[in-house]
Parts: sequence; C-alpha cells; structure tokens
Amino acid sequence: NNRRRRIYEGKAKVLYEGPEPGTLIQHFKDDATAFNAQKHERFEGKGVLNNRISEYIFSRLNEIGVPTHFIRRLNMREQLIREVEIIPLEVVVRNVVAGSLGTRLGLEEGMQLPRSIIEFYYKADKLNDPMVTEEHITAFGWAAPQEIDEMMALALRINDFLSGLFLGIGIRLVDFKVEFGRIYDPDGQVRIVLADEISPDCCRLWDIETKDRLDKDRFRRDMGGLLEAYSEVARRLGILVDNP
Ligand code: C5P
Repeated sequence: NNRRRRIYEGKAKVLYEGPEPGTLIQHFKDDATAFNAQKHERFEGKGVLNNRISEYIFSRLNEIGVPTHFIRRLNMREQLIREVEIIPLEVVVRNVVAGSLGTRLGLEEGMQLPRSIIEFYYKADKLNDPMVTEEHITAFGWAAPQEIDEMMALALRINDFLSGLFLGIGIRLVDFKVEFGRIYDPDGQVRIVLADEISPDCCRLWDIETKDRLDKDRFRRDMGGLLEAYSEVARRLGILVDNP
C-alpha cells in the first residue's frame, strides 16, 4: 500500500494512484467520524463491509444506467475507480424526517415527507459543510445550472432504485448522501457520474419491523452494535462477507 502514491486521505477512505491513467484505487478504512470528526472511533472490519456494500450498490446502479466512477473491486478493502473531478457538494435525499432536517425545522423524527426532498451542502470541513441553495452553487461556480439539474435527476433515480432495493429486504431508506464528479472525455464532452461511496456510513436505514437503526447513527448516538448492523445490511443484500 505504501509503495503507491497517495492522492488523498479522507476520514473513512484513502485514494491511491491507479494502475492506468485516469484510474484511482479507493481504499476503505475502519475509521468512523461524526460531528465533523470531533468524534472518532475505529471499527475493525467496517472498511471491508462498506467496500462490499458500496460495490454491490454501484454495480446495480451501473446496470440500470446510472453512470458511476466504479470499475471493479480489487480486494477486501479496495476498488478500482475512474478518476473524476469531484463537485464540492454533498447531495442529500430525504424520504423521512431524521437528523438535521428534524432539528432545523422542528419536525418529529420518523415523519414521512410529502415528497422526496433534495438538499445541497457545500463540502468544507472548516465551515461544517453548510447547506447551500442553487443560487450559491451557480453564483460561486461550483456547478453549472445544467449540472445541478443532472445531479438532481440522478439523485432521484438513485433514491427510487435504492428505496425499492431496501424495501425488498425489510429496510426503509430514510435518507442518504451522494457525491458527483466530472469526467472529461477525449472528445471534450463533460459527463457527470456518481462518485464516492454508498454505504451505511452515508445512509439512514431503518428496519421496517423493529425500527432498528442499521446505519452510522448507531455510532453518532452511542447505541453500540455498529458492525452487527452493517453486517446485517450486507447479509440481507446477499453479500457474503467471510470475516467482517
Ligand atoms: O445529518 P443529516 O440529517 O443532514 O444527514 C442526512 C444524510 O446524509 C444521512 O444519511 C447522513 O448519513 C448523510 N450525511 C453524510 N455525510 C455528511 C452529512 C450527512 O453521509 N457529511
């Protein structure tokens, strides 16, 4: 691992130079952080679970025509991805009130939203990732208006697909966060693709029967059982993880 050039290290992942130009290796660490990394803990095997879960979800999305950066999984903790120019936004889709939406608007957790809501947050740790509007995004040039439209359309397709996928295994997709990137094709075309990861680290997943939290809220709220919850998601998705 140390022989490869490290391109970027985040809170839960490391990006290394890939084997060919235009590729990177995305490595999943065991670290969990919350509240802008004020809270930090390692969960032995979380990286392995998230690598598998994200691989599964990105593969299914690729199959239904949602473009992603994912190429293939390389090993227990790493996947080969397309290098993209990350758009500095976190795109959150919500179906049910939870987390910061409940706090901000004084709504009761668990309330079904009248329709799915998309929110944008500016990726800036120093600022605690503030929520921004399309006005800010276009005025500061973080994304063009057509790119915002495309991200919203993709986010809703991802939400529809994942809501159904999870419903089929007894899980309610409450909300999730995605990130997008640009790929510059040789012919000068710019394409927007889904990047980063989709795992229980960036989704809220509630068991429909028991209302159990099967996501990172177990860590945020000191509920315990994080690895068991992530393993349960992997098990229901039919992913075999020998040694979580
Ligand atoms: O905290 P909040 O309620 O705004 O989070 C909404 C969704 O976005 C949750 O599923 C959470 O896991 C995800 N999220 C994330 N990374 C962030 C902020 C939120 O994955 N930095």
